[in-house]
Amino acid sequence: MDSKLQIFVLFGIVVFLVCSEAPFVKMTNAACESFNKSWVAFHYCRLKAYSRNKTSLNINATFLEPTNNVSIRLKILKKANGYKPFLFDFSFDACEFMRRRNKPVAKIVWNLIKDVSTVNHTCPYVGLQTVSDFHHIHIPLPWPSGDYLIFGDWFFYNKLIFETNVSFTFMEDL
Ligand SMILES: *[C@@H]1O[C@H](CO)[C@@H](O)[C@H](O)[C@H]1NC(C)=O
Ligand SMILES: *[C@@H]1O[C@H](CO)[C@@H](O)[C@H](O)[C@H]1NC(C)=O
Ligand SMILES: *[C@@H]1O[C@H](CO)[C@@H](O)[C@H](O)[C@H]1NC(C)=O
Ligand SMILES: *[C@@H]1O[C@H](CO)[C@@H](O)[C@H](O)[C@H]1NC(C)=O
Ligand SMILES: *[C@@H]1O[C@H](CO)[C@@H](O)[C@H](O)[C@H]1NC(C)=O
Ligand SMILES: *[C@@H]1O[C@H](CO)[C@@H](O)[C@H](O)[C@H]1NC(C)=O
Repeated sequence: MDSKLQIFVLFGIVVFLVCSEAPFVKMTNAACESFNKSWVAFHYCRLKAYSRNKTSLNINATFLEPTNNVSIRLKILKKANGYKPFLFDFSFDACEFMRRRNKPVAKIVWNLIKDVSTVNHTCPYVGLQTVSDFHHIHIPLPWPSGDYLIFGDWFFYNKLIFETNVSFTFMEDL
């Protein structure tokens, strides 16, 4: 797939991941849902398996109308006898970030993915948005092994327009 990579969608998924010595991380599920299909239509949202240990994320969506106001809320849960309360709940203005690169955490992620993204412009966003074959995941922190779920809620003009859920397994040592 010779597609372009979409920074905003990636933010919703990997905002807490940065480069370091790579422990074992495997994405295990991905789901996307639009709540306004006349604004955002998903064509594709799934993982591709490379091997038993490695998957890549592929998302293809069209923004049918331009948006000039995007904010993202990320929530991360750890699965343990059901999901526990959020480990992390974080919102930011994605348009402002793309203008100013003013959020350290988001900036780290931007640096991680900018080489595989051509959607490196500021708002507005319209048209085809894709994430292709994203698999370069490294976790920076001492992070407990386990199964995690990341919810990304995407707001245009303060309205929830779509959500992306990605789950992954993390192991400190293999
Ligand atoms: C995205 O999906 C649409 C509809 O299935 C398809 O026409 C288009 O070629 C896809 N684009 C990319 C870059 O995958
Ligand atoms: C994302 O996860 C939440 C909580 O489990 C669930 O309610 C929602 O339907 C999921 N969304 C998708 C697109 O699977
Ligand atoms: C869905 O998006 C369209 C296009 O931007 C907009 O005109 C419409 O008001 C939205 N519908 C709802 C229910 O928000
Ligand atoms: C893949 O995972 C298995 C355990 O599930 C491990 O034994 C193997 O070394 C891993 N392979 C790679 C290439 O990391
Ligand atoms: C965006 O990425 C393209 C392709 O890598 C590059 O040619 C262009 O200069 C970049 N633009 C900005 C504003 O960084
Ligand atoms: C985004 O849209 C909301 C709702 O219209 C508005 O309250 C907010 O101020 C806008 N944000 C920016 C940065 O313009």
